[in-house]
Amino acid sequence: MTTATDAVTASTPPLSAEYAMMPRMPMRTGPLIGRDTDLSRLADAVGLHPDGGAGPGGVVVLSGDAGIGKSRIVSRLVADATDSGWFTAVGHCVGQAGSNLAYLPFVELVGAVDAGHPEVVERVLAGHPALGHLLPGRVDAPGAVPTPAPAQATDPGQVAEAVHALLSALGAEQPSLVVVEDVHWADHSSRDLVTLLLTRGFPTAVGLVVTYRSDDLHRRHPLHDTLAVWARIAGLEHVELAPLPDAAVRELVAALDGPSADGPSLDAETAGEIARRSEGNPFFAEELVASAAAGQSLTGGLGRVLRARVEQLDDTAQRVLHAAALKGGQLIGHELLSRVTGLPDETLEAALAAAVEHHVLEACWPPAYTFRHALLGEAVADGLLPGERLRLHRAYAAVLAEHPDLAPASELARHAAAVGDLQTAVRASRAAAEAAMTVGGPQEALLHLERALSWLGEDDPQRDEVTLLASRAAMVAGEPIRAVDLLRDRLDHPGSGQQPGARADLLATLVIRSRMLDLPVDSIALTDEALSLLGDEAEERRVRVLVARVQALVDTGSFLEAAVVGNEASMLAERLGLTATLAELRTILARVLEAQQDLDAVEAHLRSVVRDLAPDDPLLLRALHQLASLAHRRGDLPGSLALYDQGAEAARRLHREWAPWGQECRLLGGLTAYELGDWDGSARRLDLTGRPAPQPGRAIFTAAALSVRAGRGEPVGSEVIEELRRWWAVDSLCVVQTVMPAIDLLGQAGDLEGLLDLVEAGVRVLDAAWGDYHALARMAALVAGQAAALAPPADPALRSRALSLVDELADRARLIGGLRPAVEKASRPVFERSTPGPLEDTSRETWAWLVRLEAELLRLQRVAGTVDPPPVEELVDAWRGSVAAFERYGHVFEVARSRARLAEALRAAGDDAGSRQVAEQARAVAERLGARPLLGELDLLGGVRQAELTPRELEVLRLLAEGRTNGQIGRQLYISTKTVSVHVSNLLAKLGASGRTEAAAIARRRGLA
Ligand SMILES: Nc1ncnc2c1ncn2[C@@H]1O[C@H](COP(=O)(O)OP(=O)(O)O)[C@@H](O)[C@H]1O
Ligand SMILES: [Mg+2]
Repeated sequence: MTTATDAVTASTPPLSAEYAMMPRMPMRTGPLIGRDTDLSRLADAVGLHPDGGAGPGGVVVLSGDAGIGKSRIVSRLVADATDSGWFTAVGHCVGQAGSNLAYLPFVELVGAVDAGHPEVVERVLAGHPALGHLLPGRVDAPGAVPTPAPAQATDPGQVAEAVHALLSALGAEQPSLVVVEDVHWADHSSRDLVTLLLTRGFPTAVGLVVTYRSDDLHRRHPLHDTLAVWARIAGLEHVELAPLPDAAVRELVAALDGPSADGPSLDAETAGEIARRSEGNPFFAEELVASAAAGQSLTGGLGRVLRARVEQLDDTAQRVLHAAALKGGQLIGHELLSRVTGLPDETLEAALAAAVEHHVLEACWPPAYTFRHALLGEAVADGLLPGERLRLHRAYAAVLAEHPDLAPASELARHAAAVGDLQTAVRASRAAAEAAMTVGGPQEALLHLERALSWLGEDDPQRDEVTLLASRAAMVAGEPIRAVDLLRDRLDHPGSGQQPGARADLLATLVIRSRMLDLPVDSIALTDEALSLLGDEAEERRVRVLVARVQALVDTGSFLEAAVVGNEASMLAERLGLTATLAELRTILARVLEAQQDLDAVEAHLRSVVRDLAPDDPLLLRALHQLASLAHRRGDLPGSLALYDQGAEAARRLHREWAPWGQECRLLGGLTAYELGDWDGSARRLDLTGRPAPQPGRAIFTAAALSVRAGRGEPVGSEVIEELRRWWAVDSLCVVQTVMPAIDLLGQAGDLEGLLDLVEAGVRVLDAAWGDYHALARMAALVAGQAAALAPPADPALRSRALSLVDELADRARLIGGLRPAVEKASRPVFERSTPGPLEDTSRETWAWLVRLEAELLRLQRVAGTVDPPPVEELVDAWRGSVAAFERYGHVFEVARSRARLAEALRAAGDDAGSRQVAEQARAVAERLGARPLLGELDLLGGVRQAELTPRELEVLRLLAEGRTNGQIGRQLYISTKTVSVHVSNLLAKLGASGRTEAAAIARRRGLA
């Protein structure tokens, strides 16, 4: 077994020291009373006694009050599993102190797997080096992968994949039961990892039990969010331990009282009293029995009973217990306890022996102590006097400052802060944060760094550095908003000690990070200031600032200047050997090319960038994204989808799914699949069920998925839209993704007013963020389309509001066609930027929507009756144009929708046959996509809703589609030829078919034949 006493060598990253001193917790076994049903539910859930179809393995969550018996029932399950030949391993989360240590329970768990199946660990390590971070004792083992330098951050996704891979491989080797105990104390990273394991499950024989204490989860407890995610995991088994029934408690009390020679020592009355007062909580029952056995009164609540038990011990033992309780967490090493109490060895040993004998403490190996139950430790800690508490903190701080190897750095930080030694607290927190980043726990790193910031004075120059570190941790943790806010706060409150160089770094970082979020910042002014703060030295910092500057210039359309500054930055980066930065610059500068030269050159340039990149270079995502969006703009949708998928796949491989470009590749892939008419594929790419996703990413994906839902006419509650609106201010992409499908959703629901409100609100946000933007064309066309159905019957005020909004949007959209980069404001979606050259070639999407807009406007004019209706030929031409434009663009659904409206125009022009034919084409697509609202529109067009075919007509249709004559059909169905011909003419009318051939085609398309 991996033990805490393994030597920690100098090459070991700080993480190892953090975990190496966490001794393993002992497991308890013994008779289990009154839990048969719960035990068999747990056993079934993990497939311990598989029967019939189900094999071994499965996941389950176990909850209940403190002391109710979760650990006890789990240890019984573990014992049963061991008896059945399973491998078992347990990881514990421990109180306060443990919740700051990234992946603490998994370090224990993975250590146990390593002890039992080192060959499996070895194998998985080869493919998942991140696993090495959870194996502090193994760094020097032969064949172990060298641990990256401590300064390097590990992506949490890599750690999660590694653990999942390890457990899956373990289950393939031997059926295994793994337990994660007490996740209400888990660190953020462990919570996310547990969620991933519960969601995914395992392909092999792995049983997973996760326990948590459900009684004192206060309102803002971090576990609440996690529990909400678990509640949505389909089919997740949850066992909640109820209080033991009365009879079971009596049995327990009797068992505790023990069969002694002279019979039970408790009288029946006391035993009854204990059973009643313990309220079915076995821990409470045990404590009451112990008190009664010691002749103490049984009054007061649990806390009082517990303290009374501790007070039975002598002063020295109590002093030791106080020290142990203040440590937080459940285990305290012998050496630390000895130094903190300052007691001579013999005295300490005697005190500990007394505490163990009285069942207050338990000893474990390597020498360490734990309270018999966390409730005991909490009761002792609650009873400490303020002065005592302060003295103990001081003792801890002094000991740990001198012997940092005795506890994780985060504990030194806590004690030092408690006694006001803020310099030490900051130093320790920074060390703890660095360790957390190394192991892939950016959330914990952020916590430590934010604490450090709360202790640092405003004038302390360290603030700048710590702010940058915290912002980076927030970014890696998927909290970009926090990352930006931290930077802004420091820039706004620089204190008196801020160095110009440090400020320049903060400014450059702010520019780059705000841009990813689309937050309105004046990136030119910010980089102006940053540059003015720098000297002429050729240093890395200068390159960072220049990169931000180039990005700012590109974003604001100053391409010429961007090229000049980009050149300077590239040369400097080359001189300093910053290859990664060089590649980044080349990618940014592709946009300059895009604006100045033809798109072929841009494509060639980007392809060469992609070719030069290593397959694991994160920049690959950005380059692929840019290539894909270029293909999209040029109308090569299938090519674009392939590139987006390639980017998304690379993001998965690199575990950067939520990094900016990885996220966008998957998002835009989903949207492109929607356009190509692969709606299932779109839904699959955008699906986030059971995946913890950071915001605003989750909101944008949810919004994007609305397009298919709107197209299919699925009901979407208004609360969904409301929730999405909360993210509009953070990312304008969310506005576009919400508004477009919502126009159709609200229109289909007949809510014209809601539609207008939403569009107006969306336009306000977009105007502020983007100025002019291509999305206006689509928005105008969609609003006009819905207004044609809803405006005429609306009351006059609402109608005129609708018409004037359409006019306003249309006027603005028409201008887009003539836009040039110079007048365009910064806008994030690359695919919405205009370039020289005809729109039809450079942005086929916008071009198609502009053509569509004209057709929608004519249609609206005809029904609204405000101006002289346009001649019907003009209407037909406009809709033919729209069909052709969307065909060129490749947007399957919008081709069909345009066809439906062309059919309407044709009918108005008196061309019934032409109308039917076009409508049938549209119907075929609508049926394949499952686009119910469009089908409804087509039904209406048919005059009345098409009547259902009778069963007999269906039979006739089937045979007809096989090419039979009326006579043949009659013979087969035993009816007269004349009856057949009546059925045929009826069904032709119902299908709207002009003859037998068309009817047969319709039947095949609808799957009736
Ligand atoms: N069903 C049971 N039968 C016998 N003893 C039990 C039972 N459930 C709990 N206990 C005892 O009660 C105490 C508290 O149980 P524990 O499993 O540690 O609670 P939890 O993990 O839910 O806080 C332990 O000493 C345990 O041995
Ligand atoms: Mg427990």
